[in-house]
Amino acid sequence: MKQLELSPRLGLLADWVPSGARLADVGTDHAYLPVWLRLHGRVASAIACDLREGPLARARETGRAYGVDGISYRLGNGLEAVNAEEADTIVIAGMGGENIAAILERAPWTADGTHQLLLQPMTRDEVLRAFLMDHGYVIHREALLRDRGTIYPVIEAGGGEMTLTLGQIHGGAALLGDPLGDRYIIEKIIRLQIAVAGLNRSSGQEEKADSLREILTALLSMREEWRRAESE
Ligand SMILES: C[S@@+](CC[C@H](N)C(=O)[O-])C[C@H]1O[C@@H](n2cnc3c(N)ncnc32)[C@H](O)[C@@H]1O
Repeated sequence: MKQLELSPRLGLLADWVPSGARLADVGTDHAYLPVWLRLHGRVASAIACDLREGPLARARETGRAYGVDGISYRLGNGLEAVNAEEADTIVIAGMGGENIAAILERAPWTADGTHQLLLQPMTRDEVLRAFLMDHGYVIHREALLRDRGTIYPVIEAGGGEMTLTLGQIHGGAALLGDPLGDRYIIEKIIRLQIAVAGLNRSSGQEEKADSLREILTALLSMREEWRRAESE
């Protein structure tokens, strides 16, 4: 049987899933992650959920192709098809930060302190970090990875309290020392500078431009702090 190879993005998530976990993978699509984890005996059980029939059919097909059992395939929006007691590790990966936040908001039991959340936003990671801070979650660790030229954060969170600065909301809560950290912040700064320049040219957008400038300043000073900390 052919080997199942994970992308660097899914590979990092697989590394962070604790051995023997009872996994729920939300937005599973092909179910590569739960199938790989079951194939390697890394999880006790897995629930593979998706919002749509097409991806769920692909998920079942991957399980069949690799002869993997112990996966429950479920159709549903977010975590609506999962009971809190069925899983201790929840992966929500490969979708926008706003969508991940909305899924967690509809399942407040994920902040009960007994669930480990592995979150991988493709866009709008700042929306997700702000949501986590405001809804009783704490970020335990973060890492950056480059997949097909784009840098993505992976966030491990659970129930708890935290306060993040504006810089940390946008530039990462726990990324000091990450080999891709500087690149990640620079890319954000460039995107913000382009957005501010666009707004400067259109009238009536002063408030928006001011708030983007505030984020820019926060990111620039966080980058400076990181550089100082790394040179000490
Ligand atoms: C790009 S795929 C990501 C697949 C895999 N998680 C990964 O990271 O490679 C996104 C999947 O999330 C599913 N999805 C989007 N919103 C969802 C929601 N609210 N609940 C469950 N699944 C969702 C989509 O149907 C799609 O199959």
